Amino acid sequence: MPSQERLSVIVLAAGKGTRMKSPLPKVLHPVAGRPMLESVVRAAKGAGAEEVRIVVGHGSQLVKTVAENWGVTCCEQKEQLGTADAVKSARLNDLEGDVVIMNGDHPLIEAEDIRAFVAEFRKHKADLAVVTSDLKEPGQFGRIIRHQGQMVAIVEAKDASADTLKIREVNTGIYVVKASVLRNDIERIQNKNSKGEYYLTDIIAISLAHQREVEAIKASPKVAVGVNTQEELARATRKIHLRKIRRLMEEGVVVIDPKSTYVEEAVKIGPGSVLYPGCFLRGRTQIGSFSVIESNVFISDSEIGDSVQIRAGSYLESAKVHSKCSVGPYARLRPETVMHEESQVGNFVELKKVSFGKKSKAGHLTYLGDAEIGENVNIGCGTITCNYAADRKKYKTKIGNNVFVGSDSQFVAPVSVGDHAVIGSGSTITKDVPEHALAVARAKQFVKENYTPKAPAAEAPEKKED
Ligand code: UD1
Ligand code: CA
Repeated sequence: MPSQERLSVIVLAAGKGTRMKSPLPKVLHPVAGRPMLESVVRAAKGAGAEEVRIVVGHGSQLVKTVAENWGVTCCEQKEQLGTADAVKSARLNDLEGDVVIMNGDHPLIEAEDIRAFVAEFRKHKADLAVVTSDLKEPGQFGRIIRHQGQMVAIVEAKDASADTLKIREVNTGIYVVKASVLRNDIERIQNKNSKGEYYLTDIIAISLAHQREVEAIKASPKVAVGVNTQEELARATRKIHLRKIRRLMEEGVVVIDPKSTYVEEAVKIGPGSVLYPGCFLRGRTQIGSFSVIESNVFISDSEIGDSVQIRAGSYLESAKVHSKCSVGPYARLRPETVMHEESQVGNFVELKKVSFGKKSKAGHLTYLGDAEIGENVNIGCGTITCNYAADRKKYKTKIGNNVFVGSDSQFVAPVSVGDHAVIGSGSTITKDVPEHALAVARAKQFVKENYTPKAPAAEAPEKKED
């Protein structure tokens, strides 16, 4: 690969994030379900970065632990002396080709954005490019100073005059620069400003003085959305959720009220499925076509087929629900539960580590844990698998095909029931039941007649003649 085609990304993430008022390092705060730093790293990698270097400082131990699995290099900035010092901590000596520098607290950036900036930078054969944006409220952002159209400097809001503060074009904090230029010019940055910090933004004027090709790349305001406070964190989460909902609707998902529907980025949903207000879909959840997710349903890391009904108030974690099933209202599917095709669970039914067979039904008030339920089984109301024994171990219940379990039955595991067996209502099953058998395990009904005194018969009212 020619060295100018190589791409590395430096992510600045050593700052304290004082305004978050939280003990968690700022860049680890979750935005739409994942640490904001992870969103930035994903964007960088998606844009084709060969290497991502994260500059860590405050809370570095924790940040390193979290970032460990992302395939990145963490570089320690000992003291937070400013953004230029942070970049220097990224060990610039062995970088080649083009380098993107970005902030770890801008979670709305996506791979396409970075790819577009790099393409623009390469097209213009620039040495250094700054990504800028026009904001209605430029607030604390650094202002872009132009002279006869050409960007000549960036002035931090804190160091700006009243006139400069009126400028609406701001520094988004994203830069593309040739590694050799960065290495050389960053050395000349000084800390003569109101904060006494080494500002990376000073590189613009320095590079220009060295006759470098310096460009400003205009981008949409979303790129400038940074997170510095809890309020901005919530706003960024909302923006990512809405962006996801918009994309789903473009793909044919029916969303009744986009503003009250929460879907994380990695979730996949097929066309024709319907999302009711208040549902929350997380993680690696996948949903097929023509399925309906009703209100107040929470689903994480679950796989749901086509034409499935998940009715209001249900809670699903790492479960698998095959096509044409119906779940809830108010059902709970816990990890390692698989509902096979056309099976149904109704209100107040909890399944944990259960294989629930095709066309089987558990309509009401039931707990099945560590169980294998065959096909076409009817589980009566109030059935319980007693899977947790006094020895604190879990045991399994096996129920064959076409079994009918009467209401209010318990299965004291380990126990198994053969195909076509019938369990009488109110049974406590402690021994295996063979196929085609009837098992009844309850006290015989005892009847004592005339147990309570009878009231004297009331006299019949006299019938009036009309
Ligand atoms: C910076 C820019 C500003 C731009 C804005 C965009 C400078 C001097 N200013 O301002 O022009 O409009 O970003 O959001 O660059 N960091 C370190 N080590 C440090 C200092 C900061 O790693 O010593 C990291 C922070 O964790 C953060 C990023 O650098 O991710 C930006 O730092 P911050 O202090 O938030 O700069 P801003 O004031 O936002
Ligand atoms: Ca910032």
